[in-house]
Amino acid sequence: MVTFRTSAIAFLTAVFTCQTDATATPKLPVAYQAQPVQNCPPSPVSSQKQAKIFQDFLQTFLIEGNITKTATFLDVDYIQHNPYVLSGRQSFLDAFGSGGGGNSTFEIVHTALQNNIAWVHYKNIAPGSPLTAVVDVYRFNGSCIMEHWDVIQSLPADAINPLALF
Ligand SMILES: *[C@@H]1O[C@H](CO)[C@@H](O)[C@H](O)[C@H]1NC(C)=O
Ligand SMILES: *[C@@H]1O[C@H](CO)[C@@H](O)[C@H](O)[C@H]1NC(C)=O
Ligand SMILES: *[C@@H]1O[C@H](CO)[C@@H](O)[C@H](O)[C@H]1NC(C)=O
Repeated sequence: MVTFRTSAIAFLTAVFTCQTDATATPKLPVAYQAQPVQNCPPSPVSSQKQAKIFQDFLQTFLIEGNITKTATFLDVDYIQHNPYVLSGRQSFLDAFGSGGGGNSTFEIVHTALQNNIAWVHYKNIAPGSPLTAVVDVYRFNGSCIMEHWDVIQSLPADAINPLALF
């Protein structure tokens, strides 16, 4: 999580350093400006369309690592339960900056969606770190993600099960 904050600060520093007119009111970095939001605020959608939105979200966030675009799937006031990130779309952008998961590679193992609750179970593979299993749970309202919980477990050094964690 520290690496996410570090990359957010590095990103901000890089963007603000590029300002040529020092007297101008600093503009928000491009990544922080309001984006055209297709899925939020919520609008009613079929369950098939909601499933497609969830798959697009996972592709954008975990595979492409496009944080700016990922934020457009989140309600501006979405509720966050990760201990290191506060609620709201802006807090998501602050936490992840432009760096996505740093040097992590994410491999999706399972996904499901029923009654507006979606979850994804995936591998977080990062050089120099133990293999980590993550489950993210999301609550949708129609087209839009309103709430997020996560459960994270790293492979312990003293694991006795050769099948752990996957
Ligand atoms: C992220 O997605 C946005 C919107 O589709 C696009 O304009 C931008 O170029 C993408 N950024 C990266 C780094 O791919
Ligand atoms: C990613 O890996 C590079 C090369 O090993 C390293 O310099 C950089 O600090 C890493 N970034 C993060 C966010 O861990
Ligand atoms: C879903 O969003 C609509 C439009 O903002 C709102 O009226 C409704 O109360 C929301 N429903 C839930 C379950 O959050």
